[in-house]
Amino acid sequence: MIDWSPKQIVDELDRYIVGQDEAKRAVAIALRNRYRRSRLPEKVREEIMPKNIIMVGPTGVGKTEIARRMSKLVDAPFVKVEATKYTEVGYVGRDVESMVRDLVEASIRLVKGKKEQEVRLTAESMAENRLIDLLVPISHRQQEHTVINPIEALFSGKAQSNTPALPELTTEEKEKFRSKRDEIAASLRAGKLEDTMVEVEVDEQPKLGMDFSGMGVDINMNDMLGGILPSKKKKRNVRVSEARKILIQQEMDRLIDMDEVTSEALRRAEQDGIIFIDEIDKIANRTNTSGVDVSREGVQRDILPIVEGSTVPTKYGPVKTDFILFIAAGAFHVSKVSDLIPELQGRFPIVVELKALTREDFRRIVSQPEHSATKQYSALLAADNIKLTFTEEALNAIADYAYLCNEVKENIGARRLHTVMEELLEDISFNANGRHPEIEVVVDEKYVADHLSGDVQGKVLEKYII
Ligand SMILES: Nc1ncnc2c1ncn2[C@@H]1O[C@H](COP(=O)(O)OP(=O)(O)OP(=O)(O)O)[C@@H](O)[C@H]1O
Ligand SMILES: [Mg+2]
Repeated sequence: MIDWSPKQIVDELDRYIVGQDEAKRAVAIALRNRYRRSRLPEKVREEIMPKNIIMVGPTGVGKTEIARRMSKLVDAPFVKVEATKYTEVGYVGRDVESMVRDLVEASIRLVKGKKEQEVRLTAESMAENRLIDLLVPISHRQQEHTVINPIEALFSGKAQSNTPALPELTTEEKEKFRSKRDEIAASLRAGKLEDTMVEVEVDEQPKLGMDFSGMGVDINMNDMLGGILPSKKKKRNVRVSEARKILIQQEMDRLIDMDEVTSEALRRAEQDGIIFIDEIDKIANRTNTSGVDVSREGVQRDILPIVEGSTVPTKYGPVKTDFILFIAAGAFHVSKVSDLIPELQGRFPIVVELKALTREDFRRIVSQPEHSATKQYSALLAADNIKLTFTEEALNAIADYAYLCNEVKENIGARRLHTVMEELLEDISFNANGRHPEIEVVVDEKYVADHLSGDVQGKVLEKYII
């Protein structure tokens, strides 16, 4: 669990998201409160329920983006689901509990990942030894001598004692063997053998081709039968570079106690888990008439017990949802938060509004954030030997153009910037092929004027004149 002050969390979010301070603050406080709670004695802790949040705001202003960035930030089990998923036709039984099961899976991955880091070094050196074994096989003579399949031995009557004992390796042979291993070990470390092929044994999961998810039952046939069917081993020929990854993973799996991981993961999912429910406005209904609306209200009723606190069975064990933090988001341009059933509204005490983005916001979004559209395109085209730069004026012109497009066409928020960039750089994107020395392209005001269609400006005039 991260030990960051709310201010630090907001600063971190600021690197990616422009504006929306209120939402960032609410999220930061909620995260900090989780940390504060985790420091309390258990008795007090049990009394403190998380304050769930609803983020409301027009399309493309950063709701989902905040969730995405947050998930990378928090060192806690996190899942994001779309509420509409549960209204899909054919979705049997509207399995809303699956969000909790997904959270547990996320938690398992998180906890296991931590443990893997702890044992990684050990696993790496064990894997290296196994790689050397593969590259310098024990000589046949030695193999026959040491490895006798006991069952085969029993049935063929060639019990170990009956086999005429082969002479031990001579000291000289042993010495040769050892120095060969040392030699290979050195080449391995120097990265000289990365493309050499070796044969590794991997577990083959029996594929049953049946999907039970969505039926309200959480049965993983592979897991169930995994214990009954002997896990099938399969030999694969792979490069050393690939073999190393496989062997390291195998060694880590051997070193990690999965029971410990499971119980820790369940605890963390219950205590620190965060579920982000996106598009919640799509399950709010204004009228109660049509069949679709009934189904939407049904989804709300299904979600209610989970948000309110209940116990959900998962294949790892039961999970209490009382302390999971829920953050919901929706554009709510057709429906309103008050169209949600009151019980559900009541479980989201904090409502924060995200504002429509201003022209000034657009100017910042186009270039400032860590992964802004202009940075993304520059990086993409750099792969094709094009050095793309933008002048300050061009950036402003792009932002203004995008802003205007939203005014005259549909307002799709900051997503518009991506469509505009695509239009602007279509020529270069199409023509660049990398088979040329580095070309420097400076996008200036003129370039923008030449490449973005003028009819938007015209439409703006039209709109304001009429
Ligand atoms: N405030 C912002 N700062 C920086 N980039 C933003 C901002 N708002 C939106 N974006 C950009 O626009 C894209 C779409 O935003 P996002 O997915 O957050 O929309 P949303 O608010 O969830 O809308 P919807 O209601 O349609 O789901 C993001 O990928 C991001 O690149
Ligand atoms: Mg969204």
